Amino acid sequence: MILNDIATHQDVGRLVDHFYTSVADDTLLAPFFSHLNFEEHKPRMIHFWAFVLLDEPGYTTNIFDKHAHMNLSRAALQRWIELFELSARQLFRGDKTEQAILRAKTIAWTFQEKMKME
Ligand code: HEM
Repeated sequence: MILNDIATHQDVGRLVDHFYTSVADDTLLAPFFSHLNFEEHKPRMIHFWAFVLLDEPGYTTNIFDKHAHMNLSRAALQRWIELFELSARQLFRGDKTEQAILRAKTIAWTFQEKMKME
């Protein structure tokens, strides 16, 4: 099957949906999201990725602050990245797809460096 690159807001929505379906099935990650109203969370994730990948304006949230008190572990971050990369590669192929994966990895690495993590 030929896969297209991430090109539209709708594509970003598909990526976010697919990723969170796999997160919800994951015993390590699911508990972090159990309190969350997903319908409220989803547009913020889509906005973030559309800002990063498609130059959509107006995303100003400091993501590090959002995660600073979550007690993330290296193992959880590694799993997050694995699932994100898998989701992206299952649906898309191309420069934007690589850019999304690289950005996610860079942010995960920053979290790891800035938080005291086991
Ligand atoms: C173990 C790893 C991670 C867990 C458990 C996790 C969990 C969460 C949770 C629970 C929220 C909702 C926060 C709230 O609204 O109160 C959130 C928000 C968010 N996360 Fe993560 N996260 C992880 C890693 C990452 C990484 C690596 C990225 C990099 C792209 C990321 C990007 C975001 C973004 C963009 C938001 C939305 C912030 C907003 O605009 O409100 N997360 N995360």
